[in-house]
Amino acid sequence: MSFQAILFDAYGTLFDVYAIAAEAERQFPGQGAALANLWRDKQIEYTRLRTLSGTYQPFDQVTRDALQFACSRLGLALDQPTQAQLMAQYNQLAPFPENLGVLQALRREGIALAILSNGNPEMLDPVVKAAGMADVFTHVISADRVKKFKTAPEVYQLGLDTLGATVNNSLFVSSNGWDVCGAAWFGYSTFWVNRAAAPAEVLGVVPNGEGRSLNDLLQFVRQREGH
Ligand code: LAC
Repeated sequence: MSFQAILFDAYGTLFDVYAIAAEAERQFPGQGAALANLWRDKQIEYTRLRTLSGTYQPFDQVTRDALQFACSRLGLALDQPTQAQLMAQYNQLAPFPENLGVLQALRREGIALAILSNGNPEMLDPVVKAAGMADVFTHVISADRVKKFKTAPEVYQLGLDTLGATVNNSLFVSSNGWDVCGAAWFGYSTFWVNRAAAPAEVLGVVPNGEGRSLNDLLQFVRQREGH
């Protein structure tokens, strides 16, 4: 069975978040990796808390709050210019090198492509444009529209509603194991771009496909189409 629509997670899947750790290391030598990891974990934790408790704030606000917590936790003094510098990295993330070519190849197969991300439009639009991807995506869909974050079913549903697609012929692609699980629970077929060779989440979900980059995704999709 072939796919009519493919929805992609953004951070870590399409856009390389490495620059954030590099900037964190530049600002706080010796603490960059610890800060980047704690920042990311807190960011995701806060999205879940806010969704569970109905206290939504946009992803850039959540990200800023998580940065402040992470710095406090690590005993790092975060002044305004440093905060601005770290946050600015989110607007200039580089795409992974294989992405644009793979996305263009998928478009040529006639598949509708979209981003479905927790990021708010103010965060997503600049990176999508800078990566030259504005034309390959039919839609850049933000969880902000439903004021909940993944893995809330409403967000995965928003992707289908926006594309006019059904879950049976749509594929969800993420580098985040938890996001793959959320999408699979919702009903999507899933492909896990396991860039970091991470262990699988123990949540009873086996993705339909797994690979190390978007090149592996292209192969998976072509196999499903029978060529
Ligand atoms: C996103 C985060 C979760 O783009 O990576 O939704």
